[in-house]
Amino acid sequence: MKDFIAGLPKCELHLHIEGTLEPELKFELARRHGLRLPYAGVEQMRAAYTFDSLPSFLRIYYEGMQVLRTEPDFYDLAMAYLRKAAEQNVRYAEIFFDPQAHTSRGVPFDVVVRGLRRALLEAEARLGVRAQLIMCFLRDFQAEYAMATLLESLPYREWIAGVGLDSDEKGNPPVKFAAVYERARQEGYLLTMHCDVDQDDAVEHIRQAVEDIGVNRIDHGVNILEDQRLVEVVLERGMGLTCCPVSNGFVTDSMKAEGIRKLMDLGVRVTINSDDPAYFGAYVGENLEALQGALQLTRDELARLERDAFEIAWLPRHVKDAYL
Ligand code: HPA
Ligand code: ZN
Repeated sequence: MKDFIAGLPKCELHLHIEGTLEPELKFELARRHGLRLPYAGVEQMRAAYTFDSLPSFLRIYYEGMQVLRTEPDFYDLAMAYLRKAAEQNVRYAEIFFDPQAHTSRGVPFDVVVRGLRRALLEAEARLGVRAQLIMCFLRDFQAEYAMATLLESLPYREWIAGVGLDSDEKGNPPVKFAAVYERARQEGYLLTMHCDVDQDDAVEHIRQAVEDIGVNRIDHGVNILEDQRLVEVVLERGMGLTCCPVSNGFVTDSMKAEGIRKLMDLGVRVTINSDDPAYFGAYVGENLEALQGALQLTRDELARLERDAFEIAWLPRHVKDAYL
């Protein structure tokens, strides 16, 4: 089964590029910029990855990315992920980035987006991995800052497929960003957002995302199972969910494998992704292995997960068809 999973052509749709920053590259970037990290080495840094909730994870995630400062840093970060993706037979990836996590500490927007874009072009030419960018707003910042970021992104509109919403969900519901999402839609961006697993008001947040905002898909969203009516809406629209089993195991009490199984049985387009692989210790292949182990998924079921991922990918029909 391990070999089957390794050989399966994959599509990754929920991956934060800042969450692919491995300790080794963190140390290299720190050296590049003459920064001292508060860890003796790679092992000690990994040992400090002791989160058990979304906020405790986010603290370490934001602390880690302070070494990202220049265009080559963002290029190196994305190239490292895309090389790993190629090794795991990922053929296509939609990659989240968090511009406000960088502009808020003085790194210009264009430095971030140009570095990432250069890596994507090179990976497509040299590694045969195609990828697009999704710009996420940080939901624990003001909606006005998200709007300013959206406007700042417009000169790069052709380089960015859509927008997302991430960071701390508590007290930051989807409707806080209704105007931002409306403008993003007018600008031609596709729309997704995190509805993280087992958060306060999880079902109401999913309802807002689906009905008030009208997103094209939902990141995580497993709690939709608690509302049959919303499941039916998602089925009717053919919407997809980007689930992240190993991530779930870190920020909640379990991988939510049974929930994922149930969604598959209901016919929802579920996809399996890695979220923040450098922090959760699992890229997409390991996520598929973990879920297969928990649910005894068959080869056909594993193939279906990847087929559904290509199906809900933000690609033109003829491009998708070439992967299917
Ligand atoms: N949820 C919310 N914010 C995030 C995540 C996540 O899974 N990963 C990186 N930022
Ligand atoms: Zn995520």
